[in-house]
Amino acid sequence: MAADKRIVLITGANQGIGYFAAQHFASTGKYIVLIGSRDLIKGQKAVQDLLADETVKIEKDTLTAIQLDITSDESINAAVQTTASKYGRLDILINNAGINIEQTTTSLRQRYTDSFATNTTSAAVTTEAFLPLLRKSTVPNGKRIIFTSSGLGSLTLASEFALHYSAAIYPVYRTSKTALNMVMLHFAAVLEQEGFIVGSVCPGFCGTNLNAYTGTKDPRDGAKILLVAAEGKKEDVFAKVLSDADGIPIICQGQEQHMRGGVSPYTNCSPLWTTSYNISSSLYKHIALLNKFRQHVINTSKNDTTYMNEVIFQDYHSLAMRKGYGGSQVIAVLNNNGESTNDFNLAIPNHGFQAGVQLTEVLSFTNLTVNSTGYINLPMEKGQPKIMYPTNLLYNSSPCGLSDHPPALSSVTVAETINNTTFINNIRFNNYFGLF
Ligand SMILES: NC(=O)c1ccc[n+]([C@@H]2O[C@H](COP(=O)([O-])OP(=O)(O)OC[C@H]3O[C@@H](n4cnc5c(N)ncnc54)[C@H](OP(=O)(O)O)[C@@H]3O)[C@@H](O)[C@H]2O)c1
Repeated sequence: MAADKRIVLITGANQGIGYFAAQHFASTGKYIVLIGSRDLIKGQKAVQDLLADETVKIEKDTLTAIQLDITSDESINAAVQTTASKYGRLDILINNAGINIEQTTTSLRQRYTDSFATNTTSAAVTTEAFLPLLRKSTVPNGKRIIFTSSGLGSLTLASEFALHYSAAIYPVYRTSKTALNMVMLHFAAVLEQEGFIVGSVCPGFCGTNLNAYTGTKDPRDGAKILLVAAEGKKEDVFAKVLSDADGIPIICQGQEQHMRGGVSPYTNCSPLWTTSYNISSSLYKHIALLNKFRQHVINTSKNDTTYMNEVIFQDYHSLAMRKGYGGSQVIAVLNNNGESTNDFNLAIPNHGFQAGVQLTEVLSFTNLTVNSTGYINLPMEKGQPKIMYPTNLLYNSSPCGLSDHPPALSSVTVAETINNTTFINNIRFNNYFGLF
C-alpha cells in the first residue's frame, strides 16, 4: 500500500494545527500520515480520535503515530530508523511542532533560548536528519519540506509600527519564526537542484493550546494551508511563506439590513425577521457586490486567495492595501474622513501596476489610468471606500457578470449610512479588511 501513497510526517501532530493537518492529508486517501508526537501515548490517542471522527472518512491504515521529540537527537534518530524500516523513504516532511512561551515567567534569556531550540534549531536538525530518507522519494512533483511558520515572522508586517501586529508584540516567538524562515530559505537554496520543493506556511491566528485557545480561527481551517503547500505547484510554494490570507467578508448578521445594534456587542442582538429581509436595501446590494467581486477575482486571478494583504500607503486618514500578484492585484483604499470632508485626490504609490494601465474603480464603475510617474491619482469623495482592479480583467466573459451594471456604492445614501458613524465604519472596515 505504501508504494501508491505518499508518506508524510507531521511533527507535533497530536493536537492543534498538526492534528487537523493529519486529518486533511489522510482524508484524501493519497497519503500515509505519520503523526509525530513527543509523547507516543498522545500520538496514539490522536490516531484513535481521528479514526473515530465520523465527520471525516479516513482509512484505518493511513494513520500511524511515531514518537518524535524534536529537541532530542536520540528521538529524532529513532524516528528516522522507524520510518526507514517501515517505508524505506519519506516523501514529505512537515516541521510543524512549535512552542510559544512568551507569557512565561522565566528569564528573557531562557525564553529566547528555549523558543529558538524548539521552533528554529530543532526544525533545522530534524530536516537534516530526515534528508537521506527524503532523497529516496521519487514523487513526480518533488519531494517536499514544509515549515509551519507564522505571519508574525514577517519583517514587513513587524515594521508596520502603527498596526496591531507590529514588532512591539510577541518579540520572542516571532523572532524564532523569522529565523525559521531563513532556515527554510537555506534548505530551498541548497536542495532545489535535487528536485526538492521547500516552503513555509502561516496558518493564521488559530485557537489552539499555543495561544490558550484565544485564536480567532478554527485550526481545522488553518491546517488546510499545509495540504496546499504539499500539493501546490512549485512556483506557488517554493521558497515562499504561503499564507492562508483569503479574506472572507465579515458582516455581522443584520448589518446588511441597516440594523444598528447597541453599544456593546453583547447587547446588540435584535431579531432579523423584523426587517422582512430586504434584499434591495442599499447595504445588502453593496455587500452582495463585494462578494460578487471577490468571487470574480478568485475566478480571474492567479492564486490571489493566498496572497497576503499588504498595506502600501498610509497616512492619518487613508489606508491603501494591495492583495494579489502582479497584473491582477486588487487595490483597496479606505478613508476615515466622513461625509462632510471636501473631495480630494490621493496619490497612491507601491501598487505594482505599470504607468498607463487602465483600472476600474469597482464601487462607482469609473475608469482611471496609472499616471506617467507611476501613481494612481485617486479622487476621494466623502470618505467613500475605493476598490481598483485592472479594467481588462473586469470586463471579461466570466460568469460572475460583473460587466453588467452592479449597484454602485453611491446608491447607498450617504445620509442614511453616516447617521451612525460607528456603524458605517464597522461595516466598511470589517468588509474591506475581511475582503482584501
Ligand atoms: N495557533 C496559531 O495561531 C498559529 C499561528 C501561526 C503559526 N502557528 C504554528 O503552528 C504550529 C502548531 O502550533 P499549534 O497552534 O497547533 O499549537 P499546539 O496545539 O500547541 O501544538 C503544538 C504541537 O507541537 C508539539 N511540540 C512542542 N514541542 C515539541 C517538541 N519538542 N517535540 C515534538 N513536538 C513538540 C506539541 O506537542 P505536545 O502536545 O506534547 O505539547 C503539539 O503537538 C507551531 O509551529 C506554531 O508556531 C500557530
